[in-house]
Amino acid sequence: MKIGVIGGGQLGRMLALAGTPLGMNFAFLDPAPDACAAALGEHLRADYGDQDHLRQLADEVDLVTFEFESVPAETVAFLSQFVPVYPSAEALRIARDRWFEKSMFKDLGIPTPAFADIQSQADLDAAVASIGLPAVLKTRTLGYDGKGQKVLRTQADVVDTFAELGSVPCLLEGFVPFTGEVSLIAVRARDGETRFYPLVHNTHDSGILRLSVASEDHMLQGLAEDYAGRVLKQLDYVGVLAFEFFEVDGGLKANEIAPRVHNSGHWTIEGAECSQFENHLRAVAGLPLGSTAKVGESAMLNFIGEVPAVDQVVAIDDCHLHHYGKAFKVGRKVGHATLRCDDMATLEQKIQQVEALIAG
Ligand SMILES: Nc1ncnc2c1ncn2[C@@H]1O[C@H](COP(=O)(O)OP(=O)(O)O)[C@@H](O)[C@H]1O
Ligand SMILES: [Mg+2]
Repeated sequence: MKIGVIGGGQLGRMLALAGTPLGMNFAFLDPAPDACAAALGEHLRADYGDQDHLRQLADEVDLVTFEFESVPAETVAFLSQFVPVYPSAEALRIARDRWFEKSMFKDLGIPTPAFADIQSQADLDAAVASIGLPAVLKTRTLGYDGKGQKVLRTQADVVDTFAELGSVPCLLEGFVPFTGEVSLIAVRARDGETRFYPLVHNTHDSGILRLSVASEDHMLQGLAEDYAGRVLKQLDYVGVLAFEFFEVDGGLKANEIAPRVHNSGHWTIEGAECSQFENHLRAVAGLPLGSTAKVGESAMLNFIGEVPAVDQVVAIDDCHLHHYGKAFKVGRKVGHATLRCDDMATLEQKIQQVEALIAG
């Protein structure tokens, strides 16, 4: 089976690493000359709107999937004429736009921060008056790793902020005084079978994920599964969907969904029976899903900007390095390490060892 992937970054690369043993081949559509997934499959180097290359991709593959959600709607519509596309155009339409996303949460009865659609500075002033400060202004589309958003703490922060974010449609959200951030990686098969990985605790720095720790019997697992299940059903979703939540007042508030494999699920490569990458491929290919159970304790640390010395990373017991083969760039995710062990105390020690390498 040949899988077409829109986007050729590290998520595409890890999809191919998981699918190759299943006998799958891959083609990646990505305009970047240095797309890091190209090492694992065919690279169609073209813009996402290039219909000749989209047609070529559709002719070559059995189905198409995505590794990022900001794919233009026209690209999905065009491809869908010729080849099955998972997840669906509708799932992408909702997940790529924070207004549609939060409106869906609200419609489904899933708690989410107070929010308002912002089309002008006047909208922003009115929304700040009703939602209050602190609040977070985010562009409706194209934001990632904390880009395209600004925390508003005082009235002075509100002045001219709509223009600062580019005078594009935005969403104002009430600031959530969360006690923690967790994510739920879910997978739904073509026949509707749904499975969930254990909740993951996430730590961000400057909007970028730094550390994910898979949890054991989290009190909020059932609630998170209930909320995510509603979304999966609503979207008749096929593939992996990541759900980010704020933990607040002993409950959950939905932050966002990602219609794809997710950074907070990278630990599943070594830390779960079947990884999020393999399960995404199983789902879109119409294969039975694999077990989402975790094997022992595990955590993932991101390498941002650069990867520490390889010999030092792999010298740590049961530390698994994933080097994406990308060039150095400030703030860019260039690799990660998964730590595995049998108890939390040892896991904490290992996390500190890797953190020391990152700091050094
Ligand atoms: N409403 C909010 N209240 C408090 N913190 C927030 C809020 N929205 C976002 N953040 C913080 O910023 C991070 C990135 O925001 P998010 O909406 O998830 O955007 P991205 O698409 O960049 O991941 C979150 O993980 C969280 O730490
Ligand atoms: Mg996020």
